[in-house]
This record gives sequence, structure tokens and C-alpha cells, in this order.
Amino acid sequence: MSQDRLIIFDTTLRDGEQSPGASMTKDEKVRIAKTLEKMRVDVIEAGFPIASSGDFESVQAVANAVRESRVCGLARALEADIARAGEALKGANAGRIHTFIATSPVHMERKLRMTPDQVVEQAVWAVKRARDFTDDVEFSAEDAGRSDLDFLCRVFEAVIEAGARTINVPDTVGYNLPTQFGETLHRVLERVPNADRAVFSVHCHNDLGLAVANSLAAVMNGARQVECTINGLGERAGNASLEEIVMAVRTRQDIFSCDTGLDTTQIVLCSKLVSNITGFPVQPNKAIVGANAFAHESGIHQDGVLKHRETYEIMRAQDVGWTQNRMVLGKHSGRNAFRSRLVELGIEFESEAELNAAFARFKDLADKKHEVFDEDLQALVTEKGIEAENERVSLVSLRVVSETGETPYADVTLSIDGEECSMSAAGGGPVDAAYKAIESLLDIGADLKLYSVNSITSGTDSQGEVTVRLERGGRLVNGQGADTDIVIASAKAYINGCNKLMETAQRAHPQVADV
Ligand code: KIV
Ligand code: ZN
Repeated sequence: MSQDRLIIFDTTLRDGEQSPGASMTKDEKVRIAKTLEKMRVDVIEAGFPIASSGDFESVQAVANAVRESRVCGLARALEADIARAGEALKGANAGRIHTFIATSPVHMERKLRMTPDQVVEQAVWAVKRARDFTDDVEFSAEDAGRSDLDFLCRVFEAVIEAGARTINVPDTVGYNLPTQFGETLHRVLERVPNADRAVFSVHCHNDLGLAVANSLAAVMNGARQVECTINGLGERAGNASLEEIVMAVRTRQDIFSCDTGLDTTQIVLCSKLVSNITGFPVQPNKAIVGANAFAHESGIHQDGVLKHRETYEIMRAQDVGWTQNRMVLGKHSGRNAFRSRLVELGIEFESEAELNAAFARFKDLADKKHEVFDEDLQALVTEKGIEAENERVSLVSLRVVSETGETPYADVTLSIDGEECSMSAAGGGPVDAAYKAIESLLDIGADLKLYSVNSITSGTDSQGEVTVRLERGGRLVNGQGADTDIVIASAKAYINGCNKLMETAQRAHPQVADV
């Protein structure tokens, strides 16, 4: 079969970040972007620069850090958005502006309050304006999945004429079914007269659990770019998951007449990194990256796999990175081994002081834990990352007493804006007591919406990784903490969430405010 290239456009840092609570710092975004680059993702959508100064700086930092992948910034079809995206991408080796406007009747009438003619005019204007900054302009027809086909074709023809080189067909609300969406792509490609001058792309949301199926149906009908996210993160029920798209196409080369250029062995590591940073755990039965994805429980299956792997496995675990990258460090490992493993994991330090601080934390961990795995290193850097010095609150010490028949209590000392403050509290359990003490020191009024604890690796000496979701005044944030002691991990996670709640910066949402 002929081998067209299927372009992988990752939007974990933009649409993925639109998942409630999944916000990421600039340094975290750069780390994820470097991992995506290492995985040979073609295009990295780094953010929505007009949303806030933090978003602008993140896109700028990713544009400056990534050399091999294209870096893309999102912009509504508005002057301010496009100019801001162009500015943020200045340092990129290869930058793309992704501009969009809605084309469905409900969005045009109720949200934009614009006529179809005005939408076409604005779309053409936006593409031309974006071309002032770069030749690589992508246009998206928001809510294409519910748009009139004739109108879509009209818009696409006009924006290709105006200079768009990628045309994205989003199923923004996850409404389509695979046969229908495949047919849409087929008809658009057939009917848009200048379709051969652009790459057609799809961007599917997962509201009916069909994002991957819809994307694949589109690929079978000529789409040559898929927009997706690591672990399927994204607005509401998420986006099509990158790992599922890439492995479906790779595994079924008997069906697809295209393939991606991805190094799939980086998938598991990248999945863990994103999960770790966002605090969104990966369900064990998740395809490709779930802990059970290659585990065989039934005796018959185990027997079959031992006799011949292909009896029950359609992919090799090592091809998606399950057994790779497992080099273990221990308490005797030196700074060089530590540093080079981190570099391989896409983690680089800006100064020797940062490296030394991380190495000291690694030594502490290695004292408590016999073997330190990649997952431990990722948690170690995330939990007290490079940006940690900007956090206002940190844990100085925690003492808990928990005994059968007695009320648990906790003594907590925090550093708040550089000043140490202590508090004791009793609670239903040691974590409750610690949280009450922290809350009375910070007086944030955070509502704990979710608490989960997972072990980072196997073994009773594994680090526990705690994720909390906190809410205040309608704002949701996730906090993470990791430690071999899960009460300490819990306290760190809570403090991490509180630090995020204390950041005042407000961000615009790309799909709320519009033209
Ligand atoms: O879902 C969507 O339509 C989007 C666009 C901005 C591409 O995220
Ligand atoms: Zn989207």
C-alpha cells in the first residue's frame, strides 16, 4: 500500500489544558513539549496566546525550546488574537497560526450573531492576516460536525484561496458517528475545488466515546492530519487519544494507506508524564497506556501468550514503551547518571543549583526506596519542580498521630511567603487532620472535590502519588504530591492545589468569548 504521511497534531497543551483542573505551568508545558518532540510529533499546539500573559509566555517558551516539531498557537479570527499568536511564535523554528471561527447555524446565530456571509468574510480576513506572520496557517471551522455541508465547502474554498494550508474539520461537540463523519470528509474533499492545495485535518471530541473512531473514519476518507491529545485529555469528555490513533494506524497497516512518523516507544513515558503533571490518572483498562493494557489475567490467556505471543496480543508492549526506559537508579548512582537519565526523560535544568537541589531530593528518595524508576524521577521533578520557588506555600514539617481508639491529629508547619507558621488539628483520619490544619493556616476556603492515591511503581516501598481536586468560587484546580509516606504526599498535594488557587491570573477561554 502507498505510504502517505499522517500528520500528528498534538493539542494536549491547548485543548487538553481546557479539561477542568488540568492547568499546567510554563515549565511543565515545556517538559511535555520536549517529550512530544522526542516522540516526533509533527505539530505541537502549545496554547492560546491571547488567553493570558501566562499562556502567551508558555507558547513563547515552547516555541523557543522545540526545534524539530512545528509549534502552533491558537487564535480566534480576530486581530488581537492573531497578532498575539504571531508574536508568541516569533522564536519558533517552524511556527503555525491556527485560526478558527464557528460555521454551524447554532453557533453563528446564537453565539457569534453573524450571518453566514459575515462568517466567510471574517474567516478569509483572518487567514490573510495570519499569513502576514507565517506561511503555515491552519483554519478550523468550529462545530463543522453540525455545519451545513454546502456552507462548509464554501468556507473551505475561500480560506484555501486566502492562503490556509491546513483545513481542520472539528466535531467540536462529539456529535458525529463514524460512517457519517467519514462521509463528510469524503464529500468535502470531493467538492472543494482547490482541496488539493491543503491538508485536511480532523479534531474530534469524545462526548459519545467516538472521537478515535470518528478520526480513523476520516483518515480512511482522506484526512491526513489528526488532532489529538495524550491520554485523550481535553474539553469535557476529551479529544481523540493520540496513542490510540497512532497505534491503530500502525497496527492496521493492512487497512490504512498512510502512517505516522512517530517513535511509538515514547508513548507510555509521555502518558505518565501528562498524567503526573495534570493529576488526571490513567484508568487501568485504558487502551495502550493503561496498566492492564498488556496484562494477562486468565490462565488460558497466559498460557497462550507464553506459547505464542500473538495468540492474545496484537501489539508488542515494548513498541509503545512499556518495557523500555526502565533503567533503575539507586542510592549509589551519581550525579551524571541522574542528570543523563533526566535529559533522556526530557527534563533539563536551567542551572547547576536546580540540578543539585533535584539530586538532593533524589538521594533522599533513594535512601527510603531501594530502586528509583523513571516514574519516580518524573514525580520527583513534577512535585517539587523547577517552578516551585515561585510557590507561596511549602510544607516544612508534618507530624501525625493515628492510633486505634484515639482521635487522629496532625501538627503542621508551613512556610507561607517565607515565614514559618504552625498549627495542630484533629480529624476523622490523619489526612483529614492534616488538611484541617493546613486550611486553618491558609484560610483559603477550598472545597475538596476529589482525593485519589496511586502507587507510582510496584512494591510496598513505592511512592504514593496523591491527586486532589480543589474548588473555590467555581474555579477548579488539581494538586499533586508524591512521597513514600502517603500522608505527607497528601499534604503536599493539598498545598500544591492551594498554591494554584492563590494564583489570581484569569484566562480567557477560546470558545466562550468570540468575534
Ligand atoms: O473543538 C474545537 O472545535 C476546537 C477548535 C478550536 C479547533 O478546539
Ligand atoms: Zn476542541
